[in-house]
Amino acid sequence: MKHIFVQGADNSAPVLLLLHGTGGTENDLLPLAEMISPESSVLSVRGNVLENGMPRFFRRLAEGVFDIEDLVFRTQELNEFIDQAAAEYGFDRNNVVAVGYSNGANIAASMLFHERDSLRGAVLHHPMVPIRGKELPDLHGKPVFIAAGTNDRICPPHETEELAALLEGAGAEVSVHWEQFGHQLTGSEAQAAASWFRNTIQ
Ligand code: MLT
Repeated sequence: MKHIFVQGADNSAPVLLLLHGTGGTENDLLPLAEMISPESSVLSVRGNVLENGMPRFFRRLAEGVFDIEDLVFRTQELNEFIDQAAAEYGFDRNNVVAVGYSNGANIAASMLFHERDSLRGAVLHHPMVPIRGKELPDLHGKPVFIAAGTNDRICPPHETEELAALLEGAGAEVSVHWEQFGHQLTGSEAQAAASWFRNTIQ
């Protein structure tokens, strides 16, 4: 997959897996990674799917309606890509924390839904429930930060609450941060993610 790897100053810090929103690229979330954990190595990936020229991590049939078959396939593809990247760049595969926005947060959530050991934890900005009716793996002790907007029409508050409940039901330690805005990733939620990361992961 097209990606950027940046070696961090601290080899023991979690590797941040950056996953952009629809129409984004692997460059978008680099400043966010710098805020969340400046010493970390960064693996920033571009989604393999194109929707009218806009990169995404999996196909959708309409806004908010996911192509579940493609989601499952792309989740596995991304997971395998991280395995390969860990071998190539020499980082600890068990110490990867995803940082995703929107479509990128949705595939990060899908990784947690599918594979217990795919991520050490996750920072999800404006995620949705990636897939329903699926039994989740045991996620005890997995730290997950969710940032959501009370006026987010793409990821409405009830969807945030449903996602948090599903993750908590599987044992994850979920922290939800609310902004009084819409779908945008705000500066204050980025600050909240950074302080959650400092207090919870390191
Ligand atoms: C998705 O398709 O993943 C969500 O609707 C969020 C987005 O617009 O990317």
